Amino acid sequence: MNVKTLEEGVKIEAYEVIGILAHEAEPENISLDPLRGETRDFCRRCVVNENFRGKPGTSLKIPVADGAVKFVMLCGIGKCEDSAEESVREGAFRIVRAAASKGYEKVVLQAPKANEKVRSRSIAEGAVLANYRFDKYMKKEADDKFKAVENVVVIEGNEEGFSEGKVLAECQAYARDLANEPGNVINPEVLADKAEELAEAFGLECEIWDEEKIVAENMGAFYAVGRGSENPPRFIRLTWPPKGEAKKHIVLVGKGITFDSGGLDIKPADYMTTMKGDKSGACAVLGAIRAAAILNVPHKVTAIIAAAENMPGGAAYRPDDILTARNGKTIEINNTDAEGRLTLADALAFASELQPDAIVDIATLTGACAVALGSYTAGLFTNNDALGDKILEISKRTGERLWKLPMDDPNLRKQIKSPFADTVNSGSRYGGAITAAMFLEEFVGKDIPWVHLDIAAADFIKEPRGYYVKGASGFGARTLASLLMEC
Ligand code: BES
Ligand code: MN
Ligand code: ZN
Repeated sequence: MNVKTLEEGVKIEAYEVIGILAHEAEPENISLDPLRGETRDFCRRCVVNENFRGKPGTSLKIPVADGAVKFVMLCGIGKCEDSAEESVREGAFRIVRAAASKGYEKVVLQAPKANEKVRSRSIAEGAVLANYRFDKYMKKEADDKFKAVENVVVIEGNEEGFSEGKVLAECQAYARDLANEPGNVINPEVLADKAEELAEAFGLECEIWDEEKIVAENMGAFYAVGRGSENPPRFIRLTWPPKGEAKKHIVLVGKGITFDSGGLDIKPADYMTTMKGDKSGACAVLGAIRAAAILNVPHKVTAIIAAAENMPGGAAYRPDDILTARNGKTIEINNTDAEGRLTLADALAFASELQPDAIVDIATLTGACAVALGSYTAGLFTNNDALGDKILEISKRTGERLWKLPMDDPNLRKQIKSPFADTVNSGSRYGGAITAAMFLEEFVGKDIPWVHLDIAAADFIKEPRGYYVKGASGFGARTLASLLMEC
């Protein structure tokens, strides 16, 4: 998609869809700025009759016949003083989606403060997200007129904001496409192929390790998780080498379980569906490094994925097994369904050896996190409040909700102690997201600023909401990419 500022002299009546993002006001005062003449009068009457007041999440679609115009659509973005980025993103989405679903191609948008970069970014993000569909495995219905909108123009927009927003949302869409692919299509080897394709296309360095190399590199925890599957594990490392000297080195680690059956501690059927999404952290990390390359960030960025399929095959690892991770720590297994943290243990140990300025991992790690925060907010854990706060602040703008959870409870920490090994791979149900984070911390280098994002359930949209359709959300891709742009 292309998002541009409306050229001078071009009449808005040349567009099929006119979208207006409106701040909260009395219906008489709702901004109808770009509209003129009879259309304006007609829309004002509709706004008053319908009592449209610009509340966030509300919209009004008004059929109009004037030049090329098919409809005018207003979307509320709340009060002026609110930080309105999320409702702007959603409003732009709704308008462009409404156009796309009718097959209309010419869309013009009006939004307050569109000349500001952040605002234009949100508009572009919403517009790009509106084209998203994962329909490659379906026949198109006869009455389905959906057509992706290729061009959106904005009255008085900010070009830099448009191009950034477009890249960020496209990288989110890239992450969603990958995460939506089922386990029979994407296994660890295929995920590694995808990473290689990405490297090829965007000038990244790529290194893939097969199972022999994984064993030789002492990744005993990660390797054990992959053993129960016919599809062997792969260790994936992508690097973005900035032009000139790197300002910082940031490592992103994504959980890449291409399917999580639970292993020998097999999941009940109801919990096993959506587990193709257990690679969502990896997908978000790939999306973020893709954005870093396109936007030419001045930092060295490394993306690490320990990709495996958690299956209960004959060679599967067992409860009671004791594994040795790359950093030498031994792990007693008490649940083979707590596999993500084992793959991350070796990935984080490896990441720490690179001595980067920061490590951020993102993982669909625990159902307990979803129980604590719901499925719309992800948990944030950190050993470094400055880095944690930076990411929390960014997430306020990206709309990817994060909430910080504590890691300082010594009694909870006792739960990952084992009588037979240095640590055990799962604690009790209570505080399960926290004990998982504490487990990960055992594998992070002592002085390295580290943030762990638990995106369990936030990775998957059960019912359409906001600018999301059903399926993978791509949660985290925009926030991580923004971190790379701003840190
Ligand atoms: N991949 C799951 C976590 C998950 C649950 C992601 C729901 C998305 C939605 C993870 O590997 C897992 O199975 N965790 C267990 C840990 C337990 C065995 C300690 C869980 O949360 O039940
Ligand atoms: Mn699991
Ligand atoms: Zn899992």
